[in-house]
Amino acid sequence: VIRRYRPDDAPALAALFRRSVLGLGPRDYTPAQVAAWAARSPGPEALARRWDDGRAAFVALDGADRPAGFADLEADGHIDLLYVAPEAAGAGTGAALVAAVEREARERGIARLYVEASEAARRLLLRHGFAELRRRDFEIGGVAIHNYAMEKRLAP
Ligand SMILES: CC(C)(COP(=O)(O)OP(=O)(O)OC[C@H]1O[C@@H](n2cnc3c(N)ncnc32)[C@H](O)[C@@H]1OP(=O)(O)O)[C@@H](O)C(=O)NCCC(=O)NCCS
Repeated sequence: VIRRYRPDDAPALAALFRRSVLGLGPRDYTPAQVAAWAARSPGPEALARRWDDGRAAFVALDGADRPAGFADLEADGHIDLLYVAPEAAGAGTGAALVAAVEREARERGIARLYVEASEAARRLLLRHGFAELRRRDFEIGGVAIHNYAMEKRLAP
């Protein structure tokens, strides 16, 4: 089940961000990269503030109605966050979140989705019709890491 984000989700989602990075990041990134990425986990207040700008945001729930993942969509078509809990990985939660974001974008008349995708997100998004534009190499806290600029143009 996917529902819209509510501000009282923020503590659970902030914790999920961190668990997702620590649990799933090591499949594609080194321990140093994972640690640097996890250190950038937003706290609950930062996440709630970031999401209080009119963007769309979605929470995937597990069978016990606990958050299993989340994703957002900014007004200009940017997907800022897409995170799935380690215990929910590989079961289509990410795919369902991407579908919700895409549906919302079409309803809002957004012509293009774009995202800076991790290795895992890159694989997921390639399966959903996103195109890879370029690899982005950068640093987080002095640690070299990379992701991929990707986009999907939505037919009017
Ligand atoms: C990217 C992400 C959202 C995908 O979510 P998901 O719901 O697991 O997506 P899927 O169900 O399509 O499965 C993804 C992969 O997990 C594999 N998988 C299957 N069982 C799994 C398990 N028990 N644990 C982990 N991965 C598993 C799937 O085969 C698939 O393989 P692939 O990575 O080669 O494509 C998720 O991996 C994630 O949150 N990663 C960490 C944070 C991150 O990178 N976020 C994106 C930032 S841009």
